[in-house]
Amino acid sequence: MWFNKKKEAPSKRYFSEEWMVSWKNNLAESKLYRLKAKDWNASVLLRMEPPSDILQKNDAIGFFLDLQYGECHELRYAQEKDIDLTDIILAGSENTWLKLIELKKDPAIMIMKGALKLEKGSLVMLTNQKEAAKALLQTAPAYIEADLDEPFISNKIEKMSIRKEHSSFKTTTGGLDFDSFPMQLFQKSKKLGVWDPADISFEKDKEDWKKFSEEEKEIIIHLSALFMAGEEAVTLDLLPLIQTLSKEGRLEEEIYLTSFLWEEAKHTEFFARFVKSVMVTRPDFERFHKPFYKKLFYRQLPEDLNRLYSDSSPLAQLKASGTYNLIVEGTLAETGYEAYHKMLRENNLLPGLQEGIIKLKQDESRHIAFGLYLINRLLEDNPHCKESFEKHLETLLDDATNVIHEIFEPYDVVPFGLEKEWFLNFAIKQFQHRIDKLGIY
Ligand SMILES: [Fe+2]
Ligand SMILES: [Fe+2]
Repeated sequence: MWFNKKKEAPSKRYFSEEWMVSWKNNLAESKLYRLKAKDWNASVLLRMEPPSDILQKNDAIGFFLDLQYGECHELRYAQEKDIDLTDIILAGSENTWLKLIELKKDPAIMIMKGALKLEKGSLVMLTNQKEAAKALLQTAPAYIEADLDEPFISNKIEKMSIRKEHSSFKTTTGGLDFDSFPMQLFQKSKKLGVWDPADISFEKDKEDWKKFSEEEKEIIIHLSALFMAGEEAVTLDLLPLIQTLSKEGRLEEEIYLTSFLWEEAKHTEFFARFVKSVMVTRPDFERFHKPFYKKLFYRQLPEDLNRLYSDSSPLAQLKASGTYNLIVEGTLAETGYEAYHKMLRENNLLPGLQEGIIKLKQDESRHIAFGLYLINRLLEDNPHCKESFEKHLETLLDDATNVIHEIFEPYDVVPFGLEKEWFLNFAIKQFQHRIDKLGIY
């Protein structure tokens, strides 16, 4: 089905000397850790029972960390003799430590569940410092899956890796996964996404336009101004996501996204053709781009997508897809197109525009389906990102609702029977429907 199963953690790469060096560097760089651990002055021994192979090879029982007021003075393998010297000893199995490191589980919860044992030290002190303990473990390097070379730290900046060479090819080894959801979407795109905006006739649209009142022209220009810039923005801003997934070797997802981007490009072309063919003089479109629209389309969308170049962590990917697929496409565009099409169909107007919007809506439903698939995959593999992702969506949903209010503000009565209430209800219903599917909130 949709979701990729999580691969086994490549435990052989964990707990090495390099891993410890990388952890110590992360601690030195982490502002969050410095802040949360500013009152912590205690040495810690993280004991692994039984010690993993790599620990045994180094005659170690775990890791010793000398932590003083937000700084890590020492991080090394711990030996038996360190037990007497250490203030706090926490013990857990290899699996427990991997869960804490890779899934960023809360150590306090792991203690409550009994997976982690406090062998030495005060529980009161530890619970008082639970945020520091959490931040400490969050900086421990984690590896997303076995075939990735670069370590990643969830909820932290992770630079997009640069592919220098291919170690192997999927098509010549395991083969393409034709049953995967992205490949199924790609099959659909090759059949349904091949419509050509240049084939759509705007002859009747031109006649309709001549008959419109100034108010009627105004609302069509207004909505077109929002859709034109919206389609252009999603065309311009998708590339960083494609590159991120490509760098991760997700061939099937990249294959589907080639059609996704092509379709967005056609949507941009379609509106440009409509305006050029139907509107006699080119109106001032940008006067309709109000503050909340600008916030979302001029700033938030490019910011969240282009951030992937400097931070391609799972959380950054979730935010990018949340903004792009759930808010811009899944809430605003889908609502807009539905209302626009409903209005044109009910009044039997602008058949060329109607035809294009029907095609465009089909493309968009695949785009949103891909977004849901991607978000699901990311959340399944990184459940600790859920809370931050939900907060991100909450803010954006608020902005999206404000965009709808902003659209209707200039009108006492909206031509062609458009209603703000309908718009808002539809938008919220769409959003609700998506988050239900994702099982978030
Ligand atoms: Fe589009
Ligand atoms: Fe789209």
